Amino acid sequence: MKVIRTIKDIQRELNERRKEGKTIGFSPTMGALHNGHSSLIAQSIENDDISVCSIFVNPTQFNEKSDLEKYPRNLESDMKILDEIGCDILFAPTAEEVYPPDFVSFSMDLSGLDDLMEGKKRPGHFAGMIEVVHRLLEIVDPEHIYMGQKDFQQFSIVDYMLKTERMKTELVVCPIVREEDGLAMSSRNTRLEPNIRKRASNIYKTLKASKDWLKYIPVKYAVDKAMNALDISDFEPEYFEIVDGFTLKGIEDYRKSDYVVACTAVWAGDVRLIDNMIYKKDS
Ligand code: PAJ
Repeated sequence: MKVIRTIKDIQRELNERRKEGKTIGFSPTMGALHNGHSSLIAQSIENDDISVCSIFVNPTQFNEKSDLEKYPRNLESDMKILDEIGCDILFAPTAEEVYPPDFVSFSMDLSGLDDLMEGKKRPGHFAGMIEVVHRLLEIVDPEHIYMGQKDFQQFSIVDYMLKTERMKTELVVCPIVREEDGLAMSSRNTRLEPNIRKRASNIYKTLKASKDWLKYIPVKYAVDKAMNALDISDFEPEYFEIVDGFTLKGIEDYRKSDYVVACTAVWAGDVRLIDNMIYKKDS
């Protein structure tokens, strides 16, 4: 695997590959890689000729400075993981490289998609996320970008940007990779205390159960029931919403929507976890 740190070098490398007619798949990450990340790169390797993974802990998407400082960083072990999967290029730029003094910031109206759910509690998070994804896409210019369903609102917003800005890159969404007990894999899981980690699968269990409840009770009661089920000792649910997968707005009638997703954020001790489950998607 080639490890590239500058924009000039990665563009030179990728231009060579493009001349050979190769397609490029791109998986942006913030490192601290686990099997969830690996699944994106594995999918990219399957679909594209050249797979690029970026590792960049983007300061502009952290609204809490302490969260940015606590973010796990382990480039050495990440490189090993990527090498073993067969990733072709790791792009690991510095903040100065991504945001030089003459950098012109990218922003766009996200049509309210950024105000809901995660956006309510993390002001500026999606503006920062979209800014860096746009910047990285400008640099890598891939045929495909691979993102995880784990961050449902994030990939929805990226999809909105790609379509609204008529960018050439196509989004490929990869399923949520879970631990054996159902907890969605996340770089933050390592920060869970053992006695909290043991019970964190309750989030997955609640997401599954609420789908069944919807057979018998209206959406708003299922939401209340789920909030109660998530409210166990050491845990504090921030939201549990059952939304339309296109608009991300809460739904009232399960039968009236073709695309239904339950999304939740739960504090597990001092670690904030998010998860979701697609309940229905009629194409
Ligand atoms: P990060 O949290 O490192 O996640 C990188 C990608 O891995 C995202 O697309 C995320 O949805 C996916 N991912 C994480 N956990 C997953 C899991 N358990 N199963 C499947 N996919 C999973 O998300 C970011 O970084 C950043 O916001 C980024 C897009 C890189 C912009 O800075």
